[in-house]
Amino acid sequence: MADDEGGQHRQSRLFTDDDGDFDAERAREESLPVEDGEVIDTDQLADHQRYVEGRGIYDERNRVNDLTGKEWKYATKSVIAESYPPALQHDLRSEHGGQKPPRLCAELIGRFSKAGDTVLDPFAGVGGTLLGASLCEHEGTGLREAIGFERNRRWIELYETALERENEERRERGEPPLAGQEMRHGDCADLIDEIDDGSVDLLLTDVPYWHMDELEQTRNERATRESKLGAFDAAAAPDEGDGEETAADEGTATETDAETETGTKAEWLEDMAAKFERFTDAVAPDGHLVVFIGDMYREQSYEFLSADLARAIESTAPVTLAANLIWYDPTKDLHVYGYPFSFVPSMVHQNVLVFRPETDS
Ligand SMILES: C[S@@+](CC[C@H](N)C(=O)[O-])C[C@H]1O[C@@H](n2cnc3c(N)ncnc32)[C@H](O)[C@@H]1O
Repeated sequence: MADDEGGQHRQSRLFTDDDGDFDAERAREESLPVEDGEVIDTDQLADHQRYVEGRGIYDERNRVNDLTGKEWKYATKSVIAESYPPALQHDLRSEHGGQKPPRLCAELIGRFSKAGDTVLDPFAGVGGTLLGASLCEHEGTGLREAIGFERNRRWIELYETALERENEERRERGEPPLAGQEMRHGDCADLIDEIDDGSVDLLLTDVPYWHMDELEQTRNERATRESKLGAFDAAAAPDEGDGEETAADEGTATETDAETETGTKAEWLEDMAAKFERFTDAVAPDGHLVVFIGDMYREQSYEFLSADLARAIESTAPVTLAANLIWYDPTKDLHVYGYPFSFVPSMVHQNVLVFRPETDS
């Protein structure tokens, strides 16, 4: 038997359809090196290229993530659709209205870090980032070490309880446990001093929002009731059921937050800019800072908080804005506030700002 026939024969035995015939499509999908629809001759790969079975070609020069070319292309998508799955003790973590889906965090961690890298979340809440970093061990390219700062002990306790319960359930299902990550209690403005310069590969966080002063909020609520036009989407009707806190009500959940949050937008921007200037020292020169921030609708106009925050951070921290990704939650409720007189958007997205530290070169 000729060599090439032998090759065909081996393939047909491995990749057969229900009738026992050779299934070329399945062979391509499951085993043969295929990139952009072409079977790759692995002998033709450059020294810095490696074929990873089922995933495509990995470039050893990749300093951003562990993704192959094919995966990288997909990861450049500027919109990420991800709902709040009732997973990973969602109900428990939902006590914190601003919690983020750990799988969404894992997706971002996969785009902006490599296995073994260090991830820091200075506003960690109930640990969406930390759980995401642990998920990467089993559902990504490998575990990341994560450190979280959180000034409210309740949220730290909830993260720990959620992890414990999740691991009990995983054990029952015969799955390996999620690694515990390090949650430090305190103010991030102090705790950041304990982190060595350049030791963080990815800073992934979800900032506490700017708080309107109470008077303004009351006035808006009254105006909303009277006009039924929805002067302020978020204040008028905080979302129910999906656990996502809106820009207006976030942080009021705890006394600690209310005590120290800044009152005006300008003060909030100044505070965030000062904090990010310090955070940036901790990030490695080829690392990233990735920041969740929702926009707001207020007094009949759109508050472009993401743009304001991006400019404020860039004005103090030595970083450059590399992207604004959109996190779209397809399950979020729609609100009809302006109908039929005024267009008021139903906010079913948040922005994810991606910054790169500026380098001297
Ligand atoms: C938007 S939430 C983060 C939620 C988080 N992504 C999660 O999945 O649970 C912001 C968190 O930052 C915390 N926080 C606000 N200011 C802080 C500070 N100066 N130091 C540490 N934590 C702070 C708040 O208590 C709140 O839990």
